[in-house]
Amino acid sequence: MPDLVAEIKTLEGQATQRIAASTSVEALQMVAHEFVGKKGALTAVMKQLGSLTPEERSLVGKAANDFKTQLETLLADKEAQLQDARYESLKESEFIDLSVNPKPHAALGVKVPFGGHIHPIAAMQKKLEDIFTSMGFSIVDGVQVEDDYHNFGALNFTEDHPARDMQDTFYVQAHGGAGVPADTMSSVPGPEAHGGAGVPAGTRQPYLLRTHTSTVQIRALEKMQPPLRIIAPGRVFRYEEVDASHEHTFYQMEGMLIDRKVSVGNLLHLMQTLLTEVFGREVEVRLRPGYFPFVEPGFELDMKCLVCAGKGCSVCKHSGWVEVLPCGLVHPNVLQSAGLNPDEWQGAAFGLGLNRLVMMRHGIEDIRHFMAGKLDFLRQF
Ligand code: PHE
Repeated sequence: MPDLVAEIKTLEGQATQRIAASTSVEALQMVAHEFVGKKGALTAVMKQLGSLTPEERSLVGKAANDFKTQLETLLADKEAQLQDARYESLKESEFIDLSVNPKPHAALGVKVPFGGHIHPIAAMQKKLEDIFTSMGFSIVDGVQVEDDYHNFGALNFTEDHPARDMQDTFYVQAHGGAGVPADTMSSVPGPEAHGGAGVPAGTRQPYLLRTHTSTVQIRALEKMQPPLRIIAPGRVFRYEEVDASHEHTFYQMEGMLIDRKVSVGNLLHLMQTLLTEVFGREVEVRLRPGYFPFVEPGFELDMKCLVCAGKGCSVCKHSGWVEVLPCGLVHPNVLQSAGLNPDEWQGAAFGLGLNRLVMMRHGIEDIRHFMAGKLDFLRQF
């Protein structure tokens, strides 16, 4: 009869030596693999158990378990030791002396070192977040690579709505990794997951770069129970001819509130409070009808021109008013597609264009400045 306990002891000796001699985490993994892996040495020993009496078997079983426990401890200790050594050596090789005085950057022609600061759009976003959270809104996140369902279908865009056209939307190849990281794709459920409310397979590619933050209305309704108040800031993309007032990549902040009773009056009051905070003085607003498939009624909200106080100037194109944001009451179809009864729940939604707000706030004439990465521009804020 083979002395399996002795064999296990021998393995233990060998493994201990190998671990001691290992100089990397990969080497340790190899040891674990060779000794206790599926096809490892211990498994080979255990295959001979059949020829033993029950008493012998329990002895060998215990020896095997002890070996495994012992090996785990040794491996863990050695790994910690290797990590410590790695950090020690990184301390040396990656040391940066932060107390050293940097030299002014000659190429930029600046006398004092330029420390960098918050981008004007990020600053506007933060300001709005503070205002909205103080009014009980919570901030929610969406995804930039979206599916047709969240960007269009669930928002009541009919199949032939012109905004779905390739002209406005960047479509993304769903498979074959056209620049889309695998984890982004897997976190986006395909339209087929929604009972076919999306696109018929094969006619349109289901993934796209979201064209607006309204996608987050749907994502929030999927996760949260009303009553709710949310804002969703983020980057959006359109296939635009770029000029002074159009960019292919820009920033929006979506807002939505759902409650038992929500009126246009509530919406107006909210927007007026918001703009007064943003611009630091009393503003006057008005509504004009506007069409968006996911709101009914839908509006364009204008603000009395702050530059000329409504008298007419070049900023407001001599009308006395500037268009600020689109908004409206959430369309019953949108509530319904989120499983809410439109007789029970009502909602309001608005879409703030962050670039536009910053442009109005600081009198910036060209939207392309934001993405140009020009320090001359950025340093003014
Ligand atoms: N999502 C719309 C756009 O980007 C704006 C909008 C948001 C309109 C919310 C109404 C309500 O054009």
